[in-house]
Amino acid sequence: MREPKMQGDRFVPLPEEKPGYVRRMFGDIARQYDLMNRLMTGGQDRLWRRLTVESAELPDGGKFLDVATGTGDMLCEVLHQQPNTLAVGLDFTPGMLAVGRKKCAGTGAQFTMGDALDLPFPDDTFDATVSGFMMRNVADIARAFSEQRRVVKPGGKVVCLEITRPAIPLWKDVFRFYFFKLVPILGGMISGRRSAYTYLPHSTVDFPAPDELEKIMESVELRHVKYRTLTMGTVALHVGVK
Ligand SMILES: C[S@@+](CC[C@H](N)C(=O)[O-])C[C@H]1O[C@@H](n2cnc3c(N)ncnc32)[C@H](O)[C@@H]1O
Repeated sequence: MREPKMQGDRFVPLPEEKPGYVRRMFGDIARQYDLMNRLMTGGQDRLWRRLTVESAELPDGGKFLDVATGTGDMLCEVLHQQPNTLAVGLDFTPGMLAVGRKKCAGTGAQFTMGDALDLPFPDDTFDATVSGFMMRNVADIARAFSEQRRVVKPGGKVVCLEITRPAIPLWKDVFRFYFFKLVPILGGMISGRRSAYTYLPHSTVDFPAPDELEKIMESVELRHVKYRTLTMGTVALHVGVK
């Protein structure tokens, strides 16, 4: 696979190469993805997904779309919280979907292949859509939110969980060292693809800060947009209403 080029001190694919790079990279690490998430976050990712699903405020028997579902952990969480939910997960990486289908067999979770920037669903289909750790990976953040807004019913929630850069003095330096230096080594050992876990921290460098992400959501006419940061400012959870 063609690796991203270093641009200055940044390790990121060129914009036109991003979708292809992201798809191949997640295909390569799909089988180790869940283990790496647990180790890298010290298990915090479970808490983040629980809060993300709670923020969707689904009605009983509601329709839930997890955009860029990956291996389906968000679907497991929603079905754990609200077993009557129609839970659909979409992703464009076949290897991630294959792991998810196997893991979620028998739960009722539905997996479908598709692009977050061109969702294959009619307008006003879902009671809520969520995305977890996707927005850093898409070529057009506003388009991804606007597609989610389109497929959500009026009054429904669009929820976004994403990594952010902590601002707390000292902690931000500790986190930076962990994220940029240790995570690639750990990721290389677990997945055999150190470059994937080098891309991960670098993909946050140009990603909008929480205030800016809030504005992007408002720019696609999501209302009452609010966010909170979790785990000492390392992730942000944004919620908007159609
Ligand atoms: C970091 S993983 C997150 C998976 C899952 N949401 C989670 O919380 O663990 C990012 C996922 O986004 C998917 N992805 C990135 N861009 C996408 C796009 N344009 N359309 C669909 N899936 C996309 C990748 O295939 C990958 O499975």
